[in-house]
Amino acid sequence: MVPRAMIVFGCLMLLTACESKQAPTTALTPDLQAGKAVVEANCVVCHKPGINGAPIIGNPKMWQRRIAQGQDVLVQHAIDGYNYDMMPPRGGNPELSDNDIRLAVAYLVSQVKDH
Ligand code: HEC
Repeated sequence: MVPRAMIVFGCLMLLTACESKQAPTTALTPDLQAGKAVVEANCVVCHKPGINGAPIIGNPKMWQRRIAQGQDVLVQHAIDGYNYDMMPPRGGNPELSDNDIRLAVAYLVSQVKDH
């Protein structure tokens, strides 16, 4: 007899497996993949539609001037918050580590093709 908890766990594993099967459009390095996960869970809410002027993911016009500051500055701004917290510290999620932010920024920058 299989305990009910095992069945539930098994179903969850199946669901997760299906989700991760979606083929990525471009192959990402493990770091960029990790950054993408952080971005999708924490940053897309503003950075996809461009809420409050948030630079839209992949938009070269919106990112060029920012990227020119250097990635370390971008990471620092994302950690501390920027422009009176229009960009909130850590995207509003204090659970994110400095490294999570670093990975997320690397992913955001990687999505801008011509910089
Ligand atoms: C509540 C909305 C919101 C969320 C959530 C958010 N951002 Fe932002 N972000 C902004 C806005 C607005 C700006 C533009 C600020 C400005 O320059 O006026 C911005 C700017 C930035 C910049 C550019 C900073 C610079 O120096 O020009 C980076 C990098 C950034 N965000 C990273 C992130 C990351 C990484 C996350 C997720 C962990 C995230 N943001 C989540 C709103 C958001």
